[in-house]
Amino acid sequence: MQLQSEGIRVGVVGVGYWGSRHVRVLRSTTGVAKVIGVDQRFTGTAGHPQLTGGDVAGYANLDAALPEVDAVVIATPPSSHYSLGLQAIEAGKHVLIEKPLATSAAEARELVAAAEAAGTLLMPGHTFLFNAAVHKLRDLVRSDELGKLYYLDCARLNLGLYQPDVNVVLDLAPHDVSIANFVLGSLPTVVTAWGSRHVHPQHEDVAHLRLDYSDVGVLANIQVSWLNPHKVRRVTAVGSKKMVVYDDMATDERIRVYDKFAMSPQEGSGPLSRVAYHFGDVMSPFIDFAEPLAVQDQHFVDRVADGCRPAIGGEEGLAVVEVLECAQISLREQRPVALAEVRRLPTRPAPDAALAALPALLDPASAAEPAFATANITRTR
Ligand SMILES: NC(=O)c1ccc[n+]([C@@H]2O[C@H](COP(=O)([O-])OP(=O)(O)OC[C@H]3O[C@@H](n4cnc5c(N)ncnc54)[C@H](O)[C@@H]3O)[C@@H](O)[C@H]2O)c1
Repeated sequence: MQLQSEGIRVGVVGVGYWGSRHVRVLRSTTGVAKVIGVDQRFTGTAGHPQLTGGDVAGYANLDAALPEVDAVVIATPPSSHYSLGLQAIEAGKHVLIEKPLATSAAEARELVAAAEAAGTLLMPGHTFLFNAAVHKLRDLVRSDELGKLYYLDCARLNLGLYQPDVNVVLDLAPHDVSIANFVLGSLPTVVTAWGSRHVHPQHEDVAHLRLDYSDVGVLANIQVSWLNPHKVRRVTAVGSKKMVVYDDMATDERIRVYDKFAMSPQEGSGPLSRVAYHFGDVMSPFIDFAEPLAVQDQHFVDRVADGCRPAIGGEEGLAVVEVLECAQISLREQRPVALAEVRRLPTRPAPDAALAALPALLDPASAAEPAFATANITRTR
């Protein structure tokens, strides 16, 4: 594939399962002149055979690659996100860090502060927030169509890849927490989690989270598992008038709207009155689907080029890590944990304001005022 004749040079640190996908999409992202792979498995600066085409250089560590890049995508295991991210930011590079932004709120907060101080762009890799089906789910939930939203239910299960450095909560729940925060336009106030270890001696492989979005009066239940025979990636929103299921495993009809509901017994109609039900049609709206990773990486490159704030920035990544930290404490101490316990930056923008730019994500014409210096971007060729 031909690279763009002009644009930025992006280093992808960690060219494993997910990083190799970044390499693939970045090689056809508008505004990218060069993609450079960085992986500790690489032994020199020569092109690595894993990267097709022979025009992608490979470095064994970020140190060696930094002078060659304008921006960095970090797709290494979560425990290395903080140190690699900080290194790149301190070198003045724009950074996209895969989910979770960091493994603790303190580290995530430091990354946000470092990027702010350096005037560089920081984006977390919350790929589902660049998924048109999630945007459709958000629109349905925020419209009157479902009636009063009772709860969200998220399930992310599989006989999945055990991660060596984090438990299933840090590996899988970032997706659902980011989706719930986005769909509800709010942050939970209290997080309760419980989980169990079956195969791994230190890391929970099965966990349940309950997020109380008290501002909007909605509970979100999240089930994550590496130890389940079924691959499930599903979000269900249940309202007083309709229900919606977003099934990411469906090749089409990812979103289905069920005209179904239950009605509580009429007040004053006596002790024998029963719940009444409504059963109507099932409708699947058309979704103009584009590969979410490609949309996300294009957004990153566009924001690096124009210096504007990304729709999903470090603050949103930090908000997710704070919820995950509450969940980790709750798992350990077996008690509900208030978000206020782990938050120390009361001046954060209201989530709705921070996410306001999201509907325009698929419309790149939505440029805001530049917020980052672009002068340090080397235009190559
Ligand atoms: N957004 C998504 O949908 C999504 C999906 C899958 C994984 N991820 C995230 O991507 C990241 C990587 O996950 P993965 O499944 O690809 O892991 P992986 O183990 O397949 O790949 C990680 C790679 O990083 C390399 N590496 C580790 N430390 C390094 C260092 N210090 N310098 C250079 N290279 C280093 C390893 O050699 C390996 O090739 C994780 O943070 C994970 O949460 C995100």
